Amino acid sequence: MPLPKAELHLHIEGTLEPELAFALAARNGVTLPYADTEELREAYLFEDLQSFLNLYYRLMTVLRTEEDFADLADAYLARAAAQGVRHAEIFFDPQAHLARGVDMGVVVGGLSRALGRSVETHGVSTQLIMCFLRDESAESALTTLEAARPHLDRITGIGLDSAEVGHPPAKFREVYEAAAALGLRRVAHAGEEGPPSYITQALDELGVERIDHGLRCMEDPGLVERLVRERVPLTLCPLSNVRLRAVDVLAEHPLPAMLDAGLLCTVNSDDPAYFGGYAGDNFRAVHEALGLDRERLRLLARNSFLASFLEHDEERRARYLAEVEAYEFTAADEVA
Ligand code: ADE
Ligand code: ZN
Repeated sequence: MPLPKAELHLHIEGTLEPELAFALAARNGVTLPYADTEELREAYLFEDLQSFLNLYYRLMTVLRTEEDFADLADAYLARAAAQGVRHAEIFFDPQAHLARGVDMGVVVGGLSRALGRSVETHGVSTQLIMCFLRDESAESALTTLEAARPHLDRITGIGLDSAEVGHPPAKFREVYEAAAALGLRRVAHAGEEGPPSYITQALDELGVERIDHGLRCMEDPGLVERLVRERVPLTLCPLSNVRLRAVDVLAEHPLPAMLDAGLLCTVNSDDPAYFGGYAGDNFRAVHEALGLDRERLRLLARNSFLASFLEHDEERRARYLAEVEAYEFTAADEVA
């Protein structure tokens, strides 16, 4: 039994493994510009966030039907469950699908088909978080929120992702205000490639409750102090940070320093099909490369449930937290 954990930073389109991409391409008559999965995997060498996003958006063109989105989510949930994920708050990027003529109803319908049976099928509770692409316009984000209105019973919150630098959070103030009025929870990517001021802006202008990544807060001691004081969770993604070169090597990741500073850190996989590992793989990697001991891993797992949007089901949160406290590490599974 792996260490129980919640995954709070996971793009469902980033779980598209090469094998499934080719299977869906064949099913939908889409031609991919790669001969086979091996050739595709060779493209997984990224210089930065944008070089990854180029491939990410290209590959997701194989997703066309409800069944495709359900199959994608089912495959992720099976892998996540095998690595101890008990609760997942899952991002999706509707604008990337709407732009290709795939309706919001198809995306949300397909995803929620898999999510709706996930507790029974995989033992994983789930929520959906709809992300806006920050390199698209503020108007497009507002239109997207409007398109989501018939489906809001299945959407817990909103997020902000895609190319960060040059697209500060304040650009999306209006849509975050509208989402808050609709009762949606709010998160945003900030401080992955962008400066610490984007983190401050996300808090002050968008009213976010968690920061996705937030790595660069470490450049601003005053901001760190604030994040600690206000108990703002950070959803870190260590393997992603290495692959997208936010850090040079995992051994230099600031996670230990962030924990020492008292930040409420969680460990997540971001886009596991692209970055070399799912949630448990990220836990194992920080254990091995950063020497985080078992109690620090338990702290990260505890944080993941504390930071999750489980306010509507505190009984479930308490059950998961009890599982974390009762967890007995073994030499065999060490971490994952
Ligand atoms: N979309 C998918 N993964 C992302 C990441 N790591 N940062 C920003 N946008 C993303
Ligand atoms: Zn992300």
